[in-house]
This record gives sequence, structure tokens and C-alpha cells, in this order.
Amino acid sequence: KNVHYYDWVLKETNYTRLCSTKSILTVNGSFPGPTILVHKGDTAYVKVHNQGLYGVTIHWHGVKQPRNPWSDGPENITQCPIKPGSSFTYEVIFSDEEGTLWWHAHSDWTRATVHGAIIILPALGKTYPFPTPYAEETIILASWFKGDVMAIIEEALATGADPNVSDAFTINGQPGDLYDCSNETTYRIAVKYGKTYLFRIINAVMNEEHFFGIAKHNLTVVAMDGAYIKPITTDYIMITPGQTMDVLVTAKQTPGRYHIASTAFVDADVAFDNSTTTAILQYSNIAKYTNTSSPTLPDYNDKAAAENFTNRLRSLASRDHPINVPKKITKRLFITVSVNQLVCPNASCDGPDGNRLSASLNNVSFVTPSIDILQAYYRNLNGVFTKNFPDEPTYIFNFTGDVGNNTLYPSLGTKVKLINYGDEVEIVYQGTNLMSAENHPMHLHGFSFYLVGNGTGNFDKKTSPQSYNLVDPPKVNTIGVPKNGWATIRFLADNPGVWFMHCHLERHASWGMNTVIIVKNGPTKQTSILPPPPYLPPCSKS
Ligand code: C2O
Ligand code: CU
Repeated sequence: KNVHYYDWVLKETNYTRLCSTKSILTVNGSFPGPTILVHKGDTAYVKVHNQGLYGVTIHWHGVKQPRNPWSDGPENITQCPIKPGSSFTYEVIFSDEEGTLWWHAHSDWTRATVHGAIIILPALGKTYPFPTPYAEETIILASWFKGDVMAIIEEALATGADPNVSDAFTINGQPGDLYDCSNETTYRIAVKYGKTYLFRIINAVMNEEHFFGIAKHNLTVVAMDGAYIKPITTDYIMITPGQTMDVLVTAKQTPGRYHIASTAFVDADVAFDNSTTTAILQYSNIAKYTNTSSPTLPDYNDKAAAENFTNRLRSLASRDHPINVPKKITKRLFITVSVNQLVCPNASCDGPDGNRLSASLNNVSFVTPSIDILQAYYRNLNGVFTKNFPDEPTYIFNFTGDVGNNTLYPSLGTKVKLINYGDEVEIVYQGTNLMSAENHPMHLHGFSFYLVGNGTGNFDKKTSPQSYNLVDPPKVNTIGVPKNGWATIRFLADNPGVWFMHCHLERHASWGMNTVIIVKNGPTKQTSILPPPPYLPPCSKS
């Protein structure tokens, strides 16, 4: 097992996109940021020097960090921000992850520009469970806003209205051929006829799930969220913010130029960026290119296309890559996922009915504390959080949202859920459409979980579990809870710590679609949270 060291400087850097220049927060001046490359089981130390304008933290999305919540990163959940002019070294401990994950800033909307890939190769001496590709490429999907992202969310929270939608999507930082002032810099991937490539696709988009495809080329998905799956051959994928997919592509079409394209899947009546980002897959050794063909992706609201893809996901579950689905559930949670509203604190807000938009889990809209929950828990400080996140909603919920007024208005609080070390946990997420119906990509820190089932309508305690896949369910860290439907996940609570759980649509997280799961220490030192590192960013305001 190897140790890797990285030195990162967070700083403002000028970037020109869509015909105008603005300053964005970057790591080492690059957008997207640098790649972390390790083998399974390695450890990385990342020293982050903050030379930016405000406090920031970094999260290692999908890295379980066994017993090490101190380096997990979400702001005021596991640490206070790294202040401008100071630095903090993250200890990123890899355990069983293999494939592609990513890292991103975890303070307000800073992740829009502060993100990058994590590539985890098989342990030294081991190989992929598929033929070794000729070459590999990382493809990061992201959002570009003409305005300042921090100002956009600040304004939205102040007025109670929806935040501005993005002005472009990008592939590896470039909007591509279909946007103004962009076709000179479209991202290009050169391929040789007859060779097979591994594309590591990361959805770092802020607010939309995506359909992704390559003109005339099949995609064979072989891994997702840092775990192998049974290969799926398809002409498009549906990927939610937070998810990563490893895809094999063989260059065996008529040599030429083909668009790689990605666009939003939004099955709801909400404002969204409906533009398409493109890159170019370009066969080498061609004298003259004629035109570039474009893929046909599903329509933006094609719910069936999204579901058809998601329902094909199965863990590889081979002898070398076994899975272990909990079967004796000892802790059950039923969590409703809602966008709703709060009464305006001022005279009037710009949200629905003069209220402000909010979001909740079990009708609790999460309030981020001013010092981190991990520290408060570890040091027994009172007044930072309460332990009363409900195991199920206190109102009868219906996915149609037709339940009367009391569920439209959530309560506010920093309510967390404590569970025992070793619990076999099942969580049923029930989507509701109080305000609008949307998929919610729910993400849990500190774990991968098995998606054992999902369906449309209300979850039914008697009939829904009959459809569970306990044989080879996909092992993931983010799942889209279907619009007007439910999804059930299971995991073993074998990682003591303070772990954030939230919707990975950034505006929903900003509105409070979050909670925290605290897994208590087990009986031994080896099953307890590691001691804190000697230096943690101080929580004082000054
Ligand atoms: Cu991708 Cu809480 O993070
Ligand atoms: Cu959401």
C-alpha cells in the first residue's frame, strides 16, 4: 500500500467561457481540478492552502474513510472551513473502492468550479475484471454560470426564489460546439480505429441529472460509484449529480468525427438549463474530416428512458468482487423527500405565495450549525444538534402530495439520527410532490449502499419488498429517488463517525434536504472513531 502527497492551492483564477471572462475559485489554477490517482487501499495526504476569498472545505465523494470522519469535509458537519490564509491536510484513506470517484469543495456552492477526478486502480498486481483498455480518459460533466456562483445562491436564499439556472454544461471545462464563442476549444479525444477505451464519467453538474451518449458508438458500462457492475451495453446512460460511471467504448465506426453529448434529464415542471454540452471523439490518421455526427439522446423528460437504464444496474458480484447485502435488518428508517416552503421572515419573499422555497427529509428542513457536528459529538458540546431526527414521518405522506397543508411547511432544526455500530440498516426513501415532482439524487457519506429496490407511487410495506433484489443489487453512493416513487437502500453500519446525507441537487441541499447519520463507536478501539488530527481548522468567526 502506497502513500501519496498532494499540494493544492485554492485561488481565484480568470477563465473565459461563453464570450466573457470571470474569476472562479480553482485548485492550482485549473478547472476542472487535478486528478488524484491511487491504487486500491492506498492513502493520500492532500494539503490544501486556501488563498481564496472565503472559507472552504474539500470532500472525497464516495471514499468511505473508515473511522476517519475528520477528513470527510462537509462544512460545519465534520469540520469548520479552512480560512483564507490558512491550510489543512486531509488524510484520505481508501479501503475497498475501485474504479472512479471524485472530490469536490463542500461549502455552499463552491463545488461548481472546485472539483476533480479520483481514479482508483486495482491493487498492485491485480487487473480489471474486463480486458485491459488501450487507453483511458476522464470525462467530467459540470455547470457553468455566467454570474458568480456564491452570489447566485446567496441571492436565492435571501429572496426565497429558485436560484438562476446555469448558462452551459461543460465537458472537461469546455461547453462545446453548440454554445457561443466555444467551438474553438471543444474538448477532443483522439482514438485509433479498432481500439477500446475506458471513459471515466463523472457528473459534477450542480442541479440536473443527465443523459449522456456518443454518436453511433455503444457504451459498455462496467463500473459505477467505485464498484464493478455486470457490463451493460447501451447507447445512452442516465447519470445523476454525484454518480460516476466507467464505460468502455470501442472505436470501430467509419473513421471520422463523432459528438460526445450530455444534456439534462428533468422530469418536472421546474426551470432548468436545457442546453447540450458536446465534446468530439475523433479518429486519428484521417486526411480530412467532413461533418460531425451527433447522438440522439432521450428527451429531457423521458422518465422511462431514465428508469430503463437504472433498472439494469447489477453488482458484478464475482468471486474476486463479492458483495454482502444485509439481510437481518436491525434498523429501519422511512424518509420522505420533499421540496416545500417556509413562511417568509420578511414582508414578502419571491417564492410561491410570497413564501420562500425550502426542502426537507421527514418534514424537517436541516439547519447547518455554526460549528461542526463531529466536534460537538466527539467533545460532548451541547446546543449544536439534537438527536431527534424521526425514524418515519409524523404525518401520513402520499406521493401525490395531496395531504393537506401541514406537510407543506416543514419544521426547522439540526436533527440527527444516531445508530449503533453493526446495525444492518434499511432506508426507504419516499419521493413526494408537494411542490413539484423531481428525482432526488440522495447521497450518503461514509458508505456505499445497496440499492435493493425502487418503484413508482407509494411504498407499500407488504408488496414493495417482494421486488427487492438481494442477490446482486448495485453498490453505490448516490441514487436517484424516482419522481413520485420510492427507493430502498441497505448497508452495514460498520463505519463509526458523523456522516452527512443529502440530495446532490445543490439547490435542494441549500434548502435543507439534508440530515446527518451518526454511527456510534463499536466495542473496541478498532471499531471506534480515530483520534482527531493534531490540527483542525478553528471554528471561531474571526
Ligand atoms: Cu458529493 Cu456531500 O457530497
Ligand atoms: Cu433533491
